[in-house]
Amino acid sequence: MSVKSNKIKIAFFDAKPYDIETFNNLIPNYDVEIKYYKHLLDINTASLAKGADVICTFVNDKIDKNIIDFLVENEIPLVAQRSAGYNNIDLKYARRKIHVVRVPAYSPNAVAEHALALMFTLNRKTHKAYNRTRDGNFSLVGLTGFDMKGKTIGIIGTGNIGKILAKTALGIGMKVIAYDAFPDKKFEEDTGLQYTSLSNLVKTSDIISLHCPLTKDTFHMIDEEAISSMKNRVMIINTSRGALIDTRALINGLKTEKIGFAGLDVYEEEDKYFFEDFSDRIISDDQLARLLTFKNVLITSHQAFLTREALDQIAITTLENITGFFKNNILKNEICYQCGAPVCNKKVKGKCF
Ligand code: NAI
Repeated sequence: MSVKSNKIKIAFFDAKPYDIETFNNLIPNYDVEIKYYKHLLDINTASLAKGADVICTFVNDKIDKNIIDFLVENEIPLVAQRSAGYNNIDLKYARRKIHVVRVPAYSPNAVAEHALALMFTLNRKTHKAYNRTRDGNFSLVGLTGFDMKGKTIGIIGTGNIGKILAKTALGIGMKVIAYDAFPDKKFEEDTGLQYTSLSNLVKTSDIISLHCPLTKDTFHMIDEEAISSMKNRVMIINTSRGALIDTRALINGLKTEKIGFAGLDVYEEEDKYFFEDFSDRIISDDQLARLLTFKNVLITSHQAFLTREALDQIAITTLENITGFFKNNILKNEICYQCGAPVCNKKVKGKCF
């Protein structure tokens, strides 16, 4: 694939100061030129990419049919996604029209550690203690937690992140059960985690942590019915994708106190709010506003990935993906152009379609 001029021109959407700093540090090592745009990619901002060779996008840039048509019309052959998740891209429509590369793993530790941070904070209420003591309030009333040791954590999705969380939870003496569409039996044998059905996990866990991708099969996997079968005062942690949980059902579960704690790094409608400063504006999303009123809900705005190590890894892999594409290298991080699979075994064997 050839570039439009001597350097690869990258139109970089949803650029944050920490992205710009990290990518700028690496630019001297690559034959690329980056134009940073703070805007999300949509049909109104897409024209900024005219003349570019590649668009570089993040989780809330919507690459839908209109954008894909725009890319084809403007001879922009490549989307370089700066994340592992790719549910923001209409892959079905993209097949055989544009190429998509992503960063399959940058720091699974960062996300697993953030999930743990949410659990520990909700349980031991250190966020409340911080505010109290700064205000001269040294009372302990209302701060009682529980020992994590001996409790059951149910991990949904035992990929890179779920596995790290499982090992850490086992390390602090928790019982770890898991559900995965493709269970890793060797991991089960090696670690002492036990795979079970989704319904049993949901029924028997004290803490449920979500680590599977958002697909049509996992959309709203935590719904009214699942919540009704959970233990009373269950803790739900979601650092994966917002739409794994039906927010309306979550709010009902919190109102009836079925759900004792919710730690959310992601939210179904997050693209309108997350990553932006709304501190002097009105939040018109009633569900988000309601979630923020619960004392036992802790929301972070999709920051689980945000460590120095992860940012460096995202930038390196993205630049390697982009430059590799224009050198016509075989790309291990490409979502299959022919069949749309994130890891296409057929392609590895050289005969996908
Ligand atoms: P991974 O691909 O290594 O693991 C995903 C696991 O989910 C796999 O074991 C897979 O078999 C399983 N799975 C697939 N479909 C399933 C289903 N229907 N039911 C149950 N399990 C299913 O992914 P990784 O790196 O562990 O990431 C997990 C998710 O975390 C990503 O999909 C992404 O949405 C999210 N994420 C969030 C970040 C954040 O900053 N909050 C950062 C990075 C990832």
